[in-house]
Amino acid sequence: MKFEIPPLPYAKDALEPHISARTLEFHYEKHHKGYLDKLRKAIEDKPEAEKSLEEIIRTSEGSTFNFAAQVWNHSFYWKSLRPGGGGAPTDGELARAVESSFGSYDDFAKRLAEAAKGEFGSGWAWLVMDGQGRLRVTSSSDAENPIQSGRQVPLLTVDVWEHAYYLDYQNERGKYVQGVIDHLLNWDFALENWKKARKA
Ligand code: FE2
Repeated sequence: MKFEIPPLPYAKDALEPHISARTLEFHYEKHHKGYLDKLRKAIEDKPEAEKSLEEIIRTSEGSTFNFAAQVWNHSFYWKSLRPGGGGAPTDGELARAVESSFGSYDDFAKRLAEAAKGEFGSGWAWLVMDGQGRLRVTSSSDAENPIQSGRQVPLLTVDVWEHAYYLDYQNERGKYVQGVIDHLLNWDFALENWKKARKA
């Protein structure tokens, strides 16, 4: 089978107490794998089956786009988190880029929390690098993501669909988002993406 999703990069209980093992079990096994199954069915015997996941995201619409983007977004989300993450970036150069783009790490954290909490309905909050090389916080609805347009390169994401937090926090999305920002954001992954984006 051409499309696969990577294994979770940590144990299912590794993000506790901020994200429970039960949430990760459902989120990865049912939601993420469910999108993959639906994508495979949607493109079976169609020209899309020959394309890469990124090409499908850039060229399709409707349910094929939704399934492909949700497969990609979740693979990116798992890597955007790690146990013992969060807080300001430890890499000096990236920390300075955050400061010059947002004013301070605290201003960045506030912006990301606002984007994540403010996205109406289901969606994603993103840290991206824009075409001028500056860091920005954005949000997207449903399955939409920054790689569609190719004008921004995603560095980190936070899933704000209810399935990401409802079992742990019910309607309190803000508590989940703050836990992710303070304790789980994987700056090593952001740094890797940022270095690649600057080379390109
Ligand atoms: Fe999700």
